[in-house]
Amino acid sequence: MSDNDVRLDYANLLAPRVAGGVDPARLTGDLAERFRAAHAAVEARRAKGDMGFFDLPRAAGTTAGVKELADGFGQWFEDVVVLGIGGSGLGAVSLRDALLGPFWNDKSMEERDHFPRLHVVDNPDPVTFGALLRRLDPAKTLFNVVSKSGSTAETMAQYLVARGWVEERVGPERTAGHFLFTTDPAKGALRKIAEADGIPAAPVPENVGGRFSVLSPVGLLPAAICGVDVDGLLAGAAAMEERCRTPELAGNPAGILATLLHLADTEGSRPIHVLMPYSDRLRSSALWFQQLWAESLGKARGLDGSPRHTGPTPMASVGATDQHSLLQLFIEGPHDKVILFVAVEDPGTDVPIPPIHSDVSTLAYLGGKSLGQLLDAERRATAEALRREGRPNATLLLPRVDARALGELYMLLQIATVYAGALYGVDPLDQPGVELGKVLTYGLMGREGYEAPSLQAGEARWTV
Ligand code: PA5
Repeated sequence: MSDNDVRLDYANLLAPRVAGGVDPARLTGDLAERFRAAHAAVEARRAKGDMGFFDLPRAAGTTAGVKELADGFGQWFEDVVVLGIGGSGLGAVSLRDALLGPFWNDKSMEERDHFPRLHVVDNPDPVTFGALLRRLDPAKTLFNVVSKSGSTAETMAQYLVARGWVEERVGPERTAGHFLFTTDPAKGALRKIAEADGIPAAPVPENVGGRFSVLSPVGLLPAAICGVDVDGLLAGAAAMEERCRTPELAGNPAGILATLLHLADTEGSRPIHVLMPYSDRLRSSALWFQQLWAESLGKARGLDGSPRHTGPTPMASVGATDQHSLLQLFIEGPHDKVILFVAVEDPGTDVPIPPIHSDVSTLAYLGGKSLGQLLDAERRATAEALRREGRPNATLLLPRVDARALGELYMLLQIATVYAGALYGVDPLDQPGVELGKVLTYGLMGREGYEAPSLQAGEARWTV
């Protein structure tokens, strides 16, 4: 490991540095043993072929397919619209925001180096979707419909609307040429439609679930279409996967993260885990993590079927903005949180602060510094303030926000999630709770085979 790698600084989770912190001796004692068992459980599932995300960085065939579709098809359009929700949408958003930089869609064609604009629509909010369609030129727009199952109501509804919209404007014979699917390699409605209509369809490996799919065609395809360095992304992910092979807790960054966050929840009564990057570009990555941690670990039953009702509550936040929104609660509210900062060591671009008003003491100290320096000082000061108040925190250090570092970060957080699943004794790969809402929606929308439910909460007498 070097300063060029993503690193985890967890000193502020340990005693005596932070009051009530973890005794460092435990890292080579009971926690090392606990992690060794979790690591073995994950390795066993991996050997069974359950955890395909580990292998995505080395799936050369998939990457070649992604590049071919991006270069030969996707990049010919001016606007690419990803239709996908949850794990099928959040990865693309976080890649766009982190790696294409601010205001990508507002840039001119030349500023974008002739790569398309990238829109990701997850919510079937008619106002947003209608407004987006009104801004697009159908002849120059590609819809990348992303759904592993090929049946998620939100995405399928958006697909139908988009298809009708395209068909009306470019004619039925040209419609298929404006669609690209990312779906299960064999099953589901999208796969069937793709085959029938000759629509290109990239495969999501069978053993890769939505929230673990950012490094599959789900995230890679829109990224590659917009010129993101997917090789760098995968190289970073591969390097992190290698670093996390060891069953020795002290040498495994995902192991340390999972073990200490699990401990904070189960022994330290700190079930709220905040991811707080000090970088606007990583705001969406915090939202991506929020879904990953929540949907993977919030479970009613353990792996053995026993009732659990377990799982930490993740929260996405951004510094320094939320210092003026949430930080008061983090520092003085209930002792129920762990804050995980993300620091970017080299912001790439910095903005100097001119020494204007040097006679005004509330402004003078800023002159001659830079916005990057201020942001970093805010992060360090916040971590120290939390520490002094006995609030555990840790920092993920990114050398810079580039494809390689992002690949490392995604892989680190995904591996930490499956370790945490093993520590909690739950299956991090399923989401049975989401199914009930889906089934009731199908009933309400009249899907064949699903009964319309009576919704108790809608009774008028309880409405004010
Ligand atoms: O992480 C998950 O598995 C989910 O969030 C799914 O990604 C989400 O429900 C969308 O599912 P699908 O890709 O089948 O449309």
